[in-house]
Amino acid sequence: MIMFRNALVRRPCRNMVNGLSSAALGRPDYDKALTQHEVYVQALRSCGLNVTVLAADEAYPDSVFIEDTAVLSERVAVIARPGVSSRLGEEKTIAAALLSHYPNLEAIAAPGTLEGGDVFRVGEHFFIGISGRTNPEGARQLAMVLKKHGYAATALPLHDVLHLKTGVAYLENNRLLACGEFLDHPLLSRFQIVPIAAAEAYAANSVWINGCVLVPSGFPQTRKNIEALGYETLSLDVSEFRKLDGGLSCLSLRF
Ligand code: GLY
Repeated sequence: MIMFRNALVRRPCRNMVNGLSSAALGRPDYDKALTQHEVYVQALRSCGLNVTVLAADEAYPDSVFIEDTAVLSERVAVIARPGVSSRLGEEKTIAAALLSHYPNLEAIAAPGTLEGGDVFRVGEHFFIGISGRTNPEGARQLAMVLKKHGYAATALPLHDVLHLKTGVAYLENNRLLACGEFLDHPLLSRFQIVPIAAAEAYAANSVWINGCVLVPSGFPQTRKNIEALGYETLSLDVSEFRKLDGGLSCLSLRF
């Protein structure tokens, strides 16, 4: 089981109101987003993480979704290459912030694209979603770097959601929270699937941190199901980030 010690987050920028969205939930309220982000940082600290908060970056409306900019493990950090033009470049300041933790950084190169939201880890094995943001070349490059550092990798095409972790969350102990196209995916058949009903699909973007599961507020059945399995949970309101198709995992890099 992986225990995380650190997290990197980026404060929301005012320009987040112009972030990418398919949610049709309206524009985010910036002040509310700031408050939700501060509560999120406190929650990470309560899970035992040392949290570094990077300054807001007004050049990139979606830059609060820092998870997409890298894939981190004990042995290697891989700087991602976002798959949409308005986010390309976000990763540059992340590389600088990670240098004090990782002396050698690897990076996805063009024409590869890869976003960290498409990657989840199960022990020494990484699953890499091929999505609208992560292309097969990006997934291939990441798999090669991971293999070089002793990890295994499996590419997993997805069709219905933005990122792989929009639809699944690994809860350790071989349990995978899943909804939609991931409920009976052949590449995920080894896991005990903890199903999420369509009405609570947003809660698939929960996140396990050192034994506690952060769950978005407003999805009581999912929280109840997770608690019934013996996990401690923390419910957090991330409504303003949901308006930009983002969620709990997207808001941090944990390592
Ligand atoms: N709004 C988050 C994203 O589209 O990447």
